[in-house]
Amino acid sequence: MTTFRSLEWQGDALQLLDQRALPHRTEYLRCQDVETVAIAIRDMTVRGAPAIGVAAAFGMVLAAQVSEAETVEGLRADLAQAAAILKDARPTAVNLAWAVDRLQQAAQEAASSASELRDRLEELAQTMYAEDIAVNWAIGNHAQALIPDGATVIHHCNTGALATVDYGTALGIIRIAHEQGKRIFAYLDETRPRLQGASLSAYELTAYGVPFKLIVDGASGWLMRTRKVDCCLVGCDRVVANGDTANKIGTYNLALAAKAHGVPFYVACPTSTLDLSIASGEQIEIEERDGREITEIAGQAIAPAGTEVFNPAFDVTPAELITAIITEKGIVYPPFRENLAALMASAD
Ligand code: MRU
Repeated sequence: MTTFRSLEWQGDALQLLDQRALPHRTEYLRCQDVETVAIAIRDMTVRGAPAIGVAAAFGMVLAAQVSEAETVEGLRADLAQAAAILKDARPTAVNLAWAVDRLQQAAQEAASSASELRDRLEELAQTMYAEDIAVNWAIGNHAQALIPDGATVIHHCNTGALATVDYGTALGIIRIAHEQGKRIFAYLDETRPRLQGASLSAYELTAYGVPFKLIVDGASGWLMRTRKVDCCLVGCDRVVANGDTANKIGTYNLALAAKAHGVPFYVACPTSTLDLSIASGEQIEIEERDGREITEIAGQAIAPAGTEVFNPAFDVTPAELITAIITEKGIVYPPFRENLAALMASAD
């Protein structure tokens, strides 16, 4: 088990490890209402697709607890408002809407009282918390078939225990390889502009004792040209029906460079990140964030005042650049349209 937890349920509050303060300070935010959870998701106190999904689930639980509704119908109305607040917090990671919808669905099932409904939602959020750990563990274990002993990998952003409840997806694969005694070496993209690679993935791999070096995002092409790299490992925020994949900005560049150098490019995600209702990546909403994420570093301006900025937080990697998608149900290869649909139709 990891010594830190990105999020922890305390019965009447959701405690979030403030990821904006890492690696320098270990600070926590105690959320006691849905509004605080939504703000924490938006300002990235908690981030990473699975972690924001689970945080949103507990946001719904808090909304139910705080609600003064005495009837099932009254509580459902308050939950509908809470769901809208949460879904509005960040648009690209489908796990957020997936988690909120799951709670909403449970709220629609017959209940004899508002208090029964409150208990049901709390139980479901706790189940989702535990499921997330099991799912990441399964992803990490399936992926080992693709990771040779002595592997050197490139990883983008942060996809580890901080981005989930525990283990993580792509970073979890690296950690589990290391725990299994494989010699594995990771190059971590620093991941401009918010530097999740430098501040969070480097923090995690230091804690696990996995050897790594930090690189600037622009170094990955040169790295693949001049050194042995066995594969690239990334997480994702939404995979659509044809396999197009939204992930942290810079993922597309990395995939292009990997293709040019014949390096396998693996995407790791829980099936809760699959959104087969969308046909292709063109339809994915890409979050744009405040330009100061680019023009400032730690509050210090690095560009002339008034510099205009384009700051998409994510990009879409076309399916043809992806070698395989690793899920808790197994590894999916192209053609993704057929094989993702078959995966979702298969029994657990
Ligand atoms: O903006 P962030 O830090 O929430 O972006 C995170 C990513 O893009 C991750 O790769 C993705 O959410 C998967 S985390 C297991």
